[in-house]
This record gives sequence, C-alpha cells and structure tokens, in this order.
Amino acid sequence: MGNKAWSGRFTESTDTFFEEFTESVSFDSILAPYEIKASIAYAKALKKAQILSEDELEALIKALEEIEDQINEGSFHFKREYEDVHMNIEKALFEKTGEVAYKLHTGRSRNEQVVTDLRLYLMDEGDKLKDLLLCFITAIIEKAENNLDVIMPGFTHLQHAQPVLFAHWLSTYAEAARFHLERIQDWEKRLRLCPLGSSAFAGTGFPLDRESLAKELGFSAPLSHSVYAVSSRDFSIEFLFILTLIMLDLSRLSEEIILWISPEFAFIDLPDRLCSGSSIMPQKKNPDSAELIRGKTSVVLGNLFQLLVLLKNLPLSYNRDLQEDKPPLFQAVNTVKASIKMATLLVEGITLNRDRLEAVLKEGHLLATEVADYLVTKGIPFREAHHITGRIVRYAEERKKKLEDLTLEEFKSFSSLIGEDVYTWLTLDHALQRREIIGGTGKMSVKTYLRNFREFLEKWKS
Ligand code: ARG
Repeated sequence: MGNKAWSGRFTESTDTFFEEFTESVSFDSILAPYEIKASIAYAKALKKAQILSEDELEALIKALEEIEDQINEGSFHFKREYEDVHMNIEKALFEKTGEVAYKLHTGRSRNEQVVTDLRLYLMDEGDKLKDLLLCFITAIIEKAENNLDVIMPGFTHLQHAQPVLFAHWLSTYAEAARFHLERIQDWEKRLRLCPLGSSAFAGTGFPLDRESLAKELGFSAPLSHSVYAVSSRDFSIEFLFILTLIMLDLSRLSEEIILWISPEFAFIDLPDRLCSGSSIMPQKKNPDSAELIRGKTSVVLGNLFQLLVLLKNLPLSYNRDLQEDKPPLFQAVNTVKASIKMATLLVEGITLNRDRLEAVLKEGHLLATEVADYLVTKGIPFREAHHITGRIVRYAEERKKKLEDLTLEEFKSFSSLIGEDVYTWLTLDHALQRREIIGGTGKMSVKTYLRNFREFLEKWKS
C-alpha cells in the first residue's frame, strides 16, 4: 500500500506543493482527542456489528489510548504528508497494530469523522464558554451590588438623558449575557446529534447501531439525515453567531469603559495592572485591554462572515472547501474565551469616581423629563407638557441656571399650574423613586432585579 489512503487509483505520487496547499493537520490537530474518542466508539460499534473481533477491538483501543498519551505528552509528531488529523492518527494506529488499523475505516468516511470531531469539540467549548460567561456575569452582579447607592447620568445619543443607578446601567451586560447562556443551551440541542453512520454521505453499508454509537459519545441521538450530516455546518455558524453577539456586547462595554476612564468623563478608574502606558508620553495610562476587546470583535465578526460565505453556493454534500471552516471557528472560539476573561478582569477592576459622578449629575438637565411628568400630573397632556418644559429648559440655559435654581415665579410664568411641589420632583431621589417598576431604575427594583439574578445564577449552576 502506498503512502496515501487513495494511492491504488493513482500512478504518481503527490506534488509536494499540492501537499502543502491541501493539508489541514497544521490546524486540525487540536481535534485529536475527539478523533480518538470517536474512533474508540466507532470500533466498539464495529465489534457489535461483528466486523471486528474482541481481540481486534482490544488492540485498537489500546493503541488509540497510547496515541492519546503520546499526544498529551507532546511526543506525537503530526506529519503534513498525512494531510489531516484523521489520517495522521490512522497511520500511527497502523504502525502500532498493523492491518487491523485499516479495518477501523470500514464503512467510515472522513466526511463524517470531521463533523463528529467538530461537534465533540464544540460540546466542550460550549461548556467552557458557559463557565466564562458565568464568571463575567458574577463580576457584574457583584460590582452592581457593591455600588447600589451610586447614581450616574444615563445616556441616549451619548447625551445626558435621565439619572440611572450605576448598578442598573452596568447590569445591562449581565442581562444580555443571560440570554447568551440560554442561546448556547438551545444551540446545544442541535449540536448534540451524532453524524457517525452517515459515512461519505449515503449512510454506511454496514449494520451499525447508530443509537448506541451516539450515546457512547455523549450525543443525545444520531443525526437523522446522512447527506445533511456531512454537508451542513449550521452548528458552527450558529455558534459563531452567538460568539459574535457576545463580542458585540463586550465591545460596547469596552467602548463605555474607554469613555468613562477618559478625563472628559472620569467616571471610573482601572487598576494599573490592567492598563498600559505610553513609550513617549510619561503621563499616559491607556485602557488597551478594553480597546483590544473592541478590536478583536472585528476578528470574530469576520470569522462569522468567512463561514457564511464559505457555505454559500456550495453544492451538496462534502466539498473540500469545508476544510476552511476550521481556522475561523477556532480563532473565534479562542478570541471570545480570552475576551470574556479580560472583560471580567476589567469589570472586577472598575472603581467609581463618586465625586465626579455627583458633579456631572448636575449637568445636562437630567431631570427635565420629571418636570414634564409633573405637568402631566397637573392635567396637562404630555406633548404639551414636553413643549412647556422645553421652553423652561431653554430659559434656564440662556441664564446659565439649573432647573432647580429657577424661582417659583419663573416657573409660573410658563404654567400657572406649577406649584412649590415641583422642587420635590427636581431631586434625583424622587426621579429614581418614581421608577420602582419591574425592570426600572428605582433602588428597590434594581435590588429585586439583582436578587432574582442571584437566584438565576444559583439555579443555573445546579
Ligand atoms: N481535512 C478534511 C476537512 O477538514 C477532512 C475531510 C476530508 N474528506 C475528504 N473527502 N477529503 O474537511
């Protein structure tokens, strides 16, 4: 037998540059543990179908476990000439067991092996991702709980809008991450389906027990369509979409951290250990880690698009193009894991500049909506109340006054319905108290929200 599994049909050996161009072992060798696990399960299924004897099965399992040990020790050498992780392991198996190694390929195709390995890999990575998200969420909830008394200006259009509890603002990212957790859980239902038994695409010609083969590998069931099993990369694309959504949130959080630490905002500070300096400007302390999360978001977004474009116009079933699904997938997985870890450290490291926040709360007429709402309680329709308040704000601006500094006479010149009680409405506490509503920024509501979130976390962990 020649060097290649297919050499029977060929009359000359493979061009070396062709080999270099087509290999994937330089990036798919990380699938080796899954390839071994899947091969052991497949061998057991072959034994059950009486294609392998008990002795042959034992020899294969022993050799596969030895190969696994070698890989773990770093003494296994993946060779480019053997193309991919599947052939490298098959070759090593042959060196250890001889002919029986080739029996393992009975009715089996790399087309199904590669998707099986990928699905097993993503089952592990999904678990790791959930753990990382839980740490990130916990950091946010803790930071929120420890700063429950801090009010900050809430923004729309990056302009001062209404006062909001810092805990409420920050926990937005925990809320988003909770849905990412649930998305992962939902995606897992479709991920945990086993391709083995699909063979090249038509289904294997040997009587394998696909049900128990799936269970053996921790899948919930076999995939029910052999062409779909080898052709589809939906499971990767779906995961990459979730990864992209996660990165979008981390990027927005990073953007806010970058703004907040700038002297123009100066809402927060970060520990030195999470920042870097400038090689020329000695005074600088830069939020590079947040900037890099924002930057790496473009990488993951690109990875998603790579996969989408890869699949577009691809005829069924397996095409070698599909080999290109791995680098973007692996890159996205690694980038997102690192970014969540970094974002968690950033959240943990945030300290609030309370004096500064107190000072900026006085700027930007954050309580203007309160005046409009106040007028509504006096019977004025909201649109009209809004208009009157707009005129009051303009009047105050022109005189460089805050709304609460206007006299009652001045207020009355805009509407005779305004009374002394308007000043109660012009306090931050009153504005927050009015928002004791499910999901609102009232202190009790936010406390309840955080408490419920803790319960959600406990339930999730158990
Ligand atoms: N290295 C290939 C990939 O990643 C494995 C499948 C190869 N199958 C084939 N028929 N050439 O997609």
